Amino acid sequence: MSIQNIRLFGDPVLRTPADPVADFDKELRTLVADLTDTMLDAPGAGLAAPQIGVGLRVFTYHVDGVVGHLVNPVLELDDGEQDGQEGCLSFPGLTCDTRRAWGVVARGLNMWGEPVFLEGTELLARALQHETDHLDGILFIDRMDRETRRAAMRAIRDAEWTGGCAPTVRVSPHATFGLGM
Ligand code: NI
Repeated sequence: MSIQNIRLFGDPVLRTPADPVADFDKELRTLVADLTDTMLDAPGAGLAAPQIGVGLRVFTYHVDGVVGHLVNPVLELDDGEQDGQEGCLSFPGLTCDTRRAWGVVARGLNMWGEPVFLEGTELLARALQHETDHLDGILFIDRMDRETRRAAMRAIRDAEWTGGCAPTVRVSPHATFGLGM
């Protein structure tokens, strides 16, 4: 069990698209364990590998009591939409209205390289979209409408944890009320 430091907004790793996983080895299983431990400790509803500084297409989620992970995910979004509050562990304390697809079908692999099929709506769908975005270097502020995004950026500028573009290790309370991902 190894809790990692969560990279915060401003860290370039969060804007770097992650590479597909090719080796389903012990290192990958350690990564999944680290992501799971760090996510549960935060606590958060999801955590993507770039958020702990690893540029691989892997994330974990914890929604409705179910803890899981997905490697090399591909999402299919349905046409329905949901508006609701969303947070991100890389933006401590910030929750904002973020529009997402209502439902998602996710395909990928588990850490042993076996196929995984996941279907989710509401919070699970939100988490799957949020985490897959992380793997593409996309952050939830990119998904907000312009007005919400402007308010979010103001709040980020005023937040204690922002101090420019060279973030060091910071301890933060991650008070995102369980909505952080
Ligand atoms: Ni996030």
